[in-house]
Amino acid sequence: MSSIVDSIQSADPAVKVLAGVGAIILATAFLEFLGQVNRQFIRSGKNLKKYGKYAVITGATDGIGKAYAMALAKKGMSIVLISRTEAKLVAVKEEIDAKNYADVDVKYIVCDYSKFDDKAKAAVKAGLDGLDIGVLINNVGVSYRYPRFFHEITDEEVINLTEMNVNSTVWMTRFVLPQMLEKKKGAIVNISSGSAMYTLPLLAQYSAAKSFIEKFTLALHAEYSSKGVSVQCQIPFYVSTKLAKMRKSFTVPTPDQFAKLGCKFIGHDDPVVSPYWVHAVMGYFMDRLPSFIVTKGIMSMHLGIRKRGLKKDAKNAKSE
Ligand SMILES: NC(=O)c1ccc[n+]([C@@H]2O[C@H](COP(=O)([O-])OP(=O)(O)OC[C@H]3O[C@@H](n4cnc5c(N)ncnc54)[C@H](OP(=O)(O)O)[C@@H]3O)[C@@H](O)[C@H]2O)c1
Repeated sequence: MSSIVDSIQSADPAVKVLAGVGAIILATAFLEFLGQVNRQFIRSGKNLKKYGKYAVITGATDGIGKAYAMALAKKGMSIVLISRTEAKLVAVKEEIDAKNYADVDVKYIVCDYSKFDDKAKAAVKAGLDGLDIGVLINNVGVSYRYPRFFHEITDEEVINLTEMNVNSTVWMTRFVLPQMLEKKKGAIVNISSGSAMYTLPLLAQYSAAKSFIEKFTLALHAEYSSKGVSVQCQIPFYVSTKLAKMRKSFTVPTPDQFAKLGCKFIGHDDPVVSPYWVHAVMGYFMDRLPSFIVTKGIMSMHLGIRKRGLKKDAKNAKSE
């Protein structure tokens, strides 16, 4: 060690500057790493009940949304489930009720976010009226059935991608914010996607919609964190749900795993987080790759998936 110090002391001034800059970069990276370890593994979650009695969850009958409903009920929060299929809403309500959690009330609202017109908005607002809402999980969303060039997706898909990923989040946030501001407490979680972080050819509109979620969250976080309302964007990469059509693996957690870790972040002052630590590590390294390499890699992967999707569609069309 002393020989390293000696050689730096006797070195050229330019070398000394470079060594200093290198040391600062290393120290910053190390502190960043320690911060991540703390956030992912050491820091405990907030007592979410202190924000209010109810957690409202959109897209709550399957995948990440259902997992969030189950996890938040386990924490003692009452739940408002929102989705489009009533039978599935009833089934999830019954599943939570059967757990007999003390003081946990479960309500549901039927809403098709792909048709979130004035009438549907009024129905959701009426369903939430008078409830002490502490947490909102803006989870509902839709992606392409499989990657395609933008001109290949239908007008209906174009409308749904904006309605379900963007407009649902914007309007649900507007519905709950006034009462959260009045109480000076509340937590809003907006589910984005790893696809918001990169240029995503063949999933252009999905990736852009999820980027909107991230930017929207960052600005709201800046507007409201000093007013007691936490607004946070959570970024999953692949999670084993119907939407992802992927099996669980080391890099693909179950929705339950994701939501359990996600709950630990709610209300903390981290505007953008990847709750599953493997995703956070993947994001760290992908961020450091030259973007043209990432874009090329994604393009070639998506072209392969598109080819298989088109083949399957052609086969289905033939058998109809
Ligand atoms: N899974 C992943 O790998 C992944 C990765 C990144 C980001 N995300 C994001 O995570 C969120 C949840 O995804 P997920 O994979 O958990 O989805 P999912 O398993 O497909 O579940 C979707 C949920 O949304 C509801 N839903 C679908 N269409 C609806 C509509 N028109 N109106 C109201 N509710 C509707 C479904 O209800 P019904 O059962 O009634 O259809 C279901 O409860 C999405 O925003 C997605 O973009 C997921």
